[in-house]
Amino acid sequence: MLLQEKYPEEIKGILARFPHKKSAVLPLMHLAQEAYGFTSREAMQEVAQILDLDPTHVLSLAGFYTLYYEEPVGKFVLEVCNDLACALRGADEFVQMASRKLDIPVDGTTNDGLFTLKTVMCLAACDRAPMLQCNLKFEEHLDEAKFDALISRLRAEAAAEKAEPSIVEQISAFAK
Ligand code: FES
Repeated sequence: MLLQEKYPEEIKGILARFPHKKSAVLPLMHLAQEAYGFTSREAMQEVAQILDLDPTHVLSLAGFYTLYYEEPVGKFVLEVCNDLACALRGADEFVQMASRKLDIPVDGTTNDGLFTLKTVMCLAACDRAPMLQCNLKFEEHLDEAKFDALISRLRAEAAAEKAEPSIVEQISAFAK
């Protein structure tokens, strides 16, 4: 019951925003993701219990939306679009290059916990393909040099402890 112990006021506030408590499922899932670091089975069961929902329903939502992470993720989540427009502009090769340079497979996280690499469907920036989303921020017209620069910048930010909040923290703040 980590969620209810850690965020009793936030839960109350979220529930107060909706006429039917079941409608609060997505914001509560964001809160649970912040509390647990990802949408673990335990976290989703807790959300289901608060809302009197079937846990299977909450778990299916977590699997459907790409901003819910079913496994722990790194501080920076690099979500490379590999849908049609981006694929036509080299997204698959870009993903291979990123995977090689970070030394992780798609859906993997670097050993230092900094980067998770994912592929996602269209992010509605097709005219700026190939592109990726890093912690909700778009990086567009990508090539290898831009990727190298991005990774260097993020590593420097993390080293200087000036890095932006993690993706989990950003999503949670956005949902509040
Ligand atoms: S196909 Fe990549 S942003 Fe649309």
